[in-house]
Amino acid sequence: MIVLGIETSCDDTSAAVYDGQSLLSNVVSTQLVHRRFGGIVPELASRSHIQIIIPVIKQALSEAGVALKDLSGIAVTYGPGLAGSLLVGLSVAKGMALSLGTSLVGINHLEGHIWANSLAHPQLEPPFIVLIASGGHTQVVHVRAWGHYAVLGRTRDDASGEAFDKVGKLMGIGYPGGPAIEKLARDGDPTYVRFPRAFLEEGSLDFSFSGLKTAVLNHVRAIGPAATQDHLNDIAVCFQEAVIDVLTQKTIEGARRAGASHLCLAGGVAVNKALQERLVGFGEKEGFKVWWPSPALCTDNGGMIARAGYYYLQRNIRSPMSLSPIPSLNLS
Ligand code: KG4
Ligand code: ZN
Repeated sequence: MIVLGIETSCDDTSAAVYDGQSLLSNVVSTQLVHRRFGGIVPELASRSHIQIIIPVIKQALSEAGVALKDLSGIAVTYGPGLAGSLLVGLSVAKGMALSLGTSLVGINHLEGHIWANSLAHPQLEPPFIVLIASGGHTQVVHVRAWGHYAVLGRTRDDASGEAFDKVGKLMGIGYPGGPAIEKLARDGDPTYVRFPRAFLEEGSLDFSFSGLKTAVLNHVRAIGPAATQDHLNDIAVCFQEAVIDVLTQKTIEGARRAGASHLCLAGGVAVNKALQERLVGFGEKEGFKVWWPSPALCTDNGGMIARAGYYYLQRNIRSPMSLSPIPSLNLS
């Protein structure tokens, strides 16, 4: 069985081919048009998807050495995400499935991020705990079995990646903020300032990052532009430490409660080495193993959608042609 995966939920246009053994291709085209706005402009995102989706699919098929007639099914993200962006991928997937007479399966984008761990480590099997940390989402999820997810905690305001992006913008270091902040943080002084950590009510595994973002804004305003420039590394590391403290402590608490011995990372923020190292350190102390995918599989990509689609199509689970985008689709 050969599955084409299509992902257009946000600002990456991606297509990939998976054959049950390996990812034969995984083409990702990231839209640069948003950079000058310091965030994603939904209308521009959907227009850019329309322009590039067909060439991206053609490239994915060509790199995989697979013809349209070889496809056994098409997997496509149908939520959560931007309505207009989702609609582009979904319309193309439906058109292809209809004209090729092949199966269609809609995939939850968050489930795709979880499956990226299986692509990177095929031996990994549930149960495990996963921290999904990206530009749009931050959740601690108990994966009881493939397809059976219990969300133990989620953000009540900004996602962790969104906090990196907003703080990057107010530091004047461009968009997306995550990679730039991680780089600056390597040479920063972690004792320069202590930003707040929002742990919320006793026992809660929910997150809140908007107060942290405001604290960084207040600090930058208080010291002024010249001192901000002088302390970019210090501000970056102190902000990053605050995010990592909360992410890791809540994830570990989730693992303890679920009695999980395996812990996975997913989403764009999972690329962060300081986050990975902190979790590995906790894992060594508490006896659980920590997994994460390669950077290309952490950020949005069609490969994770093709992998999830393969699982469902193999079990004869398909979606009807009436499948519509669900921008606020939940995991459980
Ligand atoms: O998963 P993703 O590609 O898209 C969404 O589904 O949102 O994640 C993108 C997010 C951005 O917010 C970006 O700033 C963040 O991941 N990110 C990072 C790093 N690389 C990307 N955050 C922290 N450290 C990084 N190295
Ligand atoms: Zn994502």
